[in-house]
Amino acid sequence: MNIGAYSMNWTKNILVTGGAGFIGSHVVRLLVNKYSDYRIINLDKLTYAGNLNNLTDISVSDQHIFLKDDICDTSRIKQIFDEYQITDVIHLAAESHVDRSIERPMEFVMTNVVGTVNLLQCAKDAWSNDFSKHVFHHVSTDEVYGSLGAEGLFEETTAYDPRSPYSSSKASSDHFVRAFHHTYGLQIKISNCSNNYGSHQFPEKLIPLMINNIVHNKPLPIYGKGDNIRDWLWVEDHANAIDAIFHEGSAGESYNVGGLNEWTNIELVKYLCNTMDTKLGRSKGESEKLITYVVDRAGHDMRYAIDASKLEAELNWKPSLEFEEGLDKTVDWYLANTKWIDQITSGSYKEYYETMYQNK
Ligand code: NAD
Ligand code: DAU
Repeated sequence: MNIGAYSMNWTKNILVTGGAGFIGSHVVRLLVNKYSDYRIINLDKLTYAGNLNNLTDISVSDQHIFLKDDICDTSRIKQIFDEYQITDVIHLAAESHVDRSIERPMEFVMTNVVGTVNLLQCAKDAWSNDFSKHVFHHVSTDEVYGSLGAEGLFEETTAYDPRSPYSSSKASSDHFVRAFHHTYGLQIKISNCSNNYGSHQFPEKLIPLMINNIVHNKPLPIYGKGDNIRDWLWVEDHANAIDAIFHEGSAGESYNVGGLNEWTNIELVKYLCNTMDTKLGRSKGESEKLITYVVDRAGHDMRYAIDASKLEAELNWKPSLEFEEGLDKTVDWYLANTKWIDQITSGSYKEYYETMYQNK
């Protein structure tokens, strides 16, 4: 028995998985700062993408407990539910990078599918006396809906049509989450968000990779023609949406999260180059010269765009920042936190980068 669970009278003991990753660390920061009566049990395996340096401004305390564990480890997860009297789950832990999923799909099946089912099973066993008191919030992606043409937006009712090993594993996990609601009565909520950007994002993803390469005058690898479209959202707005959906969303429902902010990759990278020329004191157009068109991503989804009107209408959520302002803050964060990025890029990232981009 865990004495802390009783002595402090926490109103909730929330298990946040993946809380040392990019979005997870922002979710943990929001919950710890906003709800002093919640205890946050932050569980993360610390894969290459997990980084305790993402959490340096949130002290480890009675209120914020960090556990280095694997969501696939059944006996350990059962023990954690029991020991910390877990009341709710916000599940973000995942393998999250599409390019890695193309190289190693099985790792995505293990974490994203098997790990999610393991968590669902442990939650079901722990909460079976009264499911109505507990929430299992599954954080998912817009990529489950597939790829759009020039027109239209993804709605919650859009049929699933995942096309990469990553999106297939996330779609599968979404189906299992819904199955545990319909079959057993678990109170689940699913959020499907578009591309996030902001501080603490691992530099394998487009925006931090480009920022880092611009700083170091390295080629800026644009897949294909650069005309693929993504719908970008400030990571703190995603964390706010998760907060709203976790607390106010209806059980059994999905909510799309996005900011109606579509950019082609090439437009975005050129905009970033211009912004950084100014910040780095370079002459206009200097960073753009680094742009290099490389072999396209296999099965590259053309366009993602989210209709978030359900979330806006039902839960009164809205993005708080214009993209240009958010991107400006993001660039400033990376320029001010060179130690953070140097620690990552000096290790196994180098090997990753050379392997992934050698034939491009
Ligand atoms: P990330 O790769 O930065 O972080 C993932 C975290 O999960 C890491 O800290 C990692 O150590 C941890 N993890 C991986 N395998 C684990 C395991 N077996 N057990 C415990 N922890 C494990 O990812 P992110 O970009 O922060 O994404 C978080 C979640 O949000 C994912 O579920 C992702 O599918 C979803 N999502 C991401 C985006 C985006 O734009 N990044 C958009 C929509 C949804
Ligand atoms: O839409 C939500 C998804 O967004 C999340 O579920 C994923 O976890 C997250 O990784 C992200 O997936 P994308 O594949 O869209 O993101 P990524 O940053 O890898 O790529 C964005 C676009 O930029 C995509 O069209 C591919 C392109 N790209 C990417 C890299 C890394 C390049 O042109 N060059 C690059 O070097």
